[in-house]
Amino acid sequence: MKNRQYSILNYGCQMNESDAEHFAGQLAELGYSYSEDYHNADIVVVNTCCVRESAEKKILGKIGEFKGIKIENTKQILCLAGCMAQKGGEALLKKYPQIDLLIGTAQVNNFKPIILNYLAEHGQRVHADMKINEQEFEGQAVRESTYAAWIPIMYGCNNFCTYCIVPHVRGRERSRSKENIIAEIEKAVAAGYLEFTLLGQNVNSYGKDLGNSNAFAELLKACSEIKGVKRLRYMTSHPRDMNEEVIKIAAQQKSICKHFHVPVQAGSNKILKAMNRGYTKEKFLSLIAMIRKYAPDAAITTDIIVGFPGESDADFNETLELVKNIEFDAAYTFIYSKRSGTPAANFEEQIPLAVKKARLNQLMEIQNINSLKKNKELEGTVQEVIVEGPSKNNSSIWSGRTGSNKLVLWPMEDKEYKIGDLVKIKITAAQTWLLKGIAENE
Ligand code: 5AD
Ligand code: SF4
Repeated sequence: MKNRQYSILNYGCQMNESDAEHFAGQLAELGYSYSEDYHNADIVVVNTCCVRESAEKKILGKIGEFKGIKIENTKQILCLAGCMAQKGGEALLKKYPQIDLLIGTAQVNNFKPIILNYLAEHGQRVHADMKINEQEFEGQAVRESTYAAWIPIMYGCNNFCTYCIVPHVRGRERSRSKENIIAEIEKAVAAGYLEFTLLGQNVNSYGKDLGNSNAFAELLKACSEIKGVKRLRYMTSHPRDMNEEVIKIAAQQKSICKHFHVPVQAGSNKILKAMNRGYTKEKFLSLIAMIRKYAPDAAITTDIIVGFPGESDADFNETLELVKNIEFDAAYTFIYSKRSGTPAANFEEQIPLAVKKARLNQLMEIQNINSLKKNKELEGTVQEVIVEGPSKNNSSIWSGRTGSNKLVLWPMEDKEYKIGDLVKIKITAAQTWLLKGIAENE
C-alpha cells in the first residue's frame, strides 16, 4: 500500500505553530509521513488564524484552492483547524464543502481519535466543542526545529481586550500542570533541544486558575534551572500582570533570554481604556523603568495597534511620543482590523483606512530609527548566537539569533557548524533589521 502522507499549512501565532506540531505528532502516530506537496497528500490540515482580516482573507483564498485540488485528489481529507475554524463553525462547512473536518482550538489533542472516527465511519465533521479536552497529548509533538521547542503552558485568555478575537475563539484560561511542563522540557532536552519558549496568550496569568497567583514566577525559575536549558523564552506577557518578581527572575537567571516582549498597544490613556487594557501609559512607563533597572542590557520589544476606533491625532501623537521615549528594540505594528463579535467592532468613529495607513507609516519611520540606534549600540560587542542555518538569501553566509532575538549574519568562510550550535560572533555592522558580524576564534 502506498505510504500515506500528510501536509500542514500553518498560519498565525506561535501557539498555532505549536498546535501544528501536535497535529503532526498525532498524524505520525497514525502512520502518515510528512509531505510538502499538499496537492497530493492524503490528509491536509489548514491551521488558521483570524486575528486580523488580512490573515482571514489569505486563508480563505487557500481554502478556495482546495476546491480544484479535491477534484483531482478525490480521497483527500481536508481539515480546517485553529481560530478561524472555531469562529466559523458549521457555516464554514456549508460555504466551503471541500472542507471535510472542522477541528476547534480546544480539540488539538483529540485529533487522533477524531481522524480515526472519521476514517472508520465518515462520522461527525464538526469538532468545535470549546469544552476543553483536559487530557494532554500523550505522544510526542513532531517539532519543526531541531534545537528550539515551543512549550505551551496555558491555553485561552480571560482579558477581553475590546479589539481582540482571541478570547472568543480560544476560550478561558486553562493552565497545564507544572509537572507536565517540566517533564516535556526534560524530554526535549534529552532529545537535543536547548532553546525553549513557554507559550500562552497571557503567560503572567499562568496558574491563576490553579489557585496560585505567583505560579508564573515559580514556573519560570524552575524551568530556567533545568539542566540542559540553554535559552528560555516566554510569550506573551501582559503589562498589567507582569510583576517585579518575574522581572527579577528573568534578569537574574542566566538561561532566561534578556528579551522582554511587552505589548503596549497604544500610548494614550483614553485609547488604552477603550481597549480595556487595564493599565495606563504611566504604569507602562514604570514597568519599562523596572525592567531597565534589573536588566539594563535587555532588549525590549512591543506590539502596537494604530487606528483603533476613536483614536484622534492627539491620541496617536501620544503613541509616537511613547515610542520615541522608550526606544524599543523592535515593534510589531498593526493597523486596527475590525473583528466582528468584539466590542470595538461596534464602536463609533472607526478610522478611515487611509488615515490608519498614514499613521502606520509614521510610526514605523520612528521605530526604524530606534531599531537602528539600538542595534548600533551592539557594534563591537561579542554576542552569543545560536546557528539557525545558512542565510535564506545567500548560502555562503550563516544566520543565527542572539538571546535578545536579533538576527545575526556572518560569513561562512571555512567554519563548519551544525544548526543549533552556540557560537560567539563579534558584531561589526548594525542595520535596522539585523546585525552583521564575524566569528570569534575560540
Ligand atoms: N487588529 C489589529 N491588530 C490586532 N492585534 C490583535 N487584535 C488585533 C486587531 N483586531 C495585534 C495586537 C496583538 C498582536 C498579536 O496582534 O497588537 O498584540
Ligand atoms: Fe494565534 Fe490569535 Fe491568530 Fe489565534 S487568532 S492563531 S491565537 S494570533
